[in-house]
Amino acid sequence: MPPARSPAAGLRRRKVFLPLVLLLPLILLTLILIFPSRSIPALRDAALRSQQTCDYAAGGWVSDSSAESHLRYDHTCKEIFKGWNCIANGKRNGRALLRWRWKPEGCELLPRLDPLRFLEHHRNTNIGFVGDSLNRNMFVSLVCMLRGVNGEVRKWRPAGADRGFTFLRYNLTLAYHRTNLLVRYGSWSASPNGGPLESLGYKQGHRIDVDIADQTWAEAPSFHDILIFNTGHWWWSSSKFDPIQSPMLFFEKGKPIIPPLLPPEGLDLTLKHMITFANKAMRPNGLKFFSTQSPRHFEGGDWNEGGSCQRDQPLSSEEVKEFFSLDNNGTNTEVRLVNQHLMKALEQSSFRVLNVTHMSEFRADAHPATTGGKKHDDCMHWCLPGPTDAWNDLLAASLAAIQS
Ligand SMILES: *[C@@H]1O[C@H](CO)[C@@H](O)[C@H](O)[C@H]1NC(C)=O
Ligand SMILES: *[C@@H]1O[C@H](CO)[C@@H](O)[C@H](O)[C@H]1NC(C)=O
Ligand SMILES: *[C@@H]1O[C@H](CO)[C@@H](O)[C@H](O)[C@H]1NC(C)=O
Repeated sequence: MPPARSPAAGLRRRKVFLPLVLLLPLILLTLILIFPSRSIPALRDAALRSQQTCDYAAGGWVSDSSAESHLRYDHTCKEIFKGWNCIANGKRNGRALLRWRWKPEGCELLPRLDPLRFLEHHRNTNIGFVGDSLNRNMFVSLVCMLRGVNGEVRKWRPAGADRGFTFLRYNLTLAYHRTNLLVRYGSWSASPNGGPLESLGYKQGHRIDVDIADQTWAEAPSFHDILIFNTGHWWWSSSKFDPIQSPMLFFEKGKPIIPPLLPPEGLDLTLKHMITFANKAMRPNGLKFFSTQSPRHFEGGDWNEGGSCQRDQPLSSEEVKEFFSLDNNGTNTEVRLVNQHLMKALEQSSFRVLNVTHMSEFRADAHPATTGGKKHDDCMHWCLPGPTDAWNDLLAASLAAIQS
């Protein structure tokens, strides 16, 4: 029979063990204090992981006076569309609007896209923006950031693009494919021989083929490695498709859809077809992003009713709610309505969502407004440099998270 353990021996062992247990955290703490966290890989990785799991879509803008002097490009970038160049056009807060940084909820500031690293990470890569003028605004922001560190570019129009640049030293191509509805459309008028639309009394309108990709980007999925899509304000702008004078008439497989669809239903069908098309046409390891809606900030009326956007500061959270909450049925609420259609369509797809909506909803201070060079205030496009720089920060952060 083994002898029972003497209580004295147990006591002795605890005496040695106890101080060690107490010391261990102290030793660790000393180590952490001595070595900055960056030099401890495990800690750095943990910090990176938490940054990657950050929900960048929610948060707020914080003022950072140093941001203004760290511009990645300024009003001298030649690619900036004249009406969006708020600094050159003398917008009162053209520079002040650049001091705001996006801070996702519970995380560090959204990291800024580092142009040189971006060029190096995306050697031999083609990146395409497919969509309306808001997507062009984001495209220009990225072109200007990259041109700020390397001006050796070839300007050309790859794969049906409206404009494009190859950064020669990196063989990185950026292109903008202009398409308002993603699908082909043109004017339509009643045929003297009659037809299903004619017999419903339609005399003129726009024929929209929900299953035919606009030729401006049909080649883009096989050319680009990374695509960023958007579609938006053309779907609800009655100035473009007046429901009486020039209604949207949807066609599928070359035939009019009867009974005719309302624009939101046409959007659903278009998204369904175009998502399927892009999935099939894109190379298997290609990356597809869809940007959510870019909000407008008309106050005191819509764009054609004298509405304007004269603010010098981003909106507060309460003001954002007031502007955009669907319950309030304000001038600018369509942004969240269209997002609902988009989310439904993207649910089962391999597209990644670039949720730029909420961060942009605050930025009533950052539209060209009266300096846009139009008859009415431009409270829809964005000043450059401006908030779409943060959209590209978001894109770069998403790409880094995917490709790491
Ligand atoms: C975008 O993010 C905001 C803020 O988190 C959220 O309320 C909204 O539902 C998101 N929209 C989409 C389309 O994912
Ligand atoms: C440049 O990039 C394209 C697209 O990735 C690639 O097809 C081509 O081979 C590259 N050219 C060179 C010279 O590496
Ligand atoms: C929202 O406002 C528009 C005009 O501003 C009006 O035509 C529409 O009926 C309103 N909708 C609701 C649900 O109140």
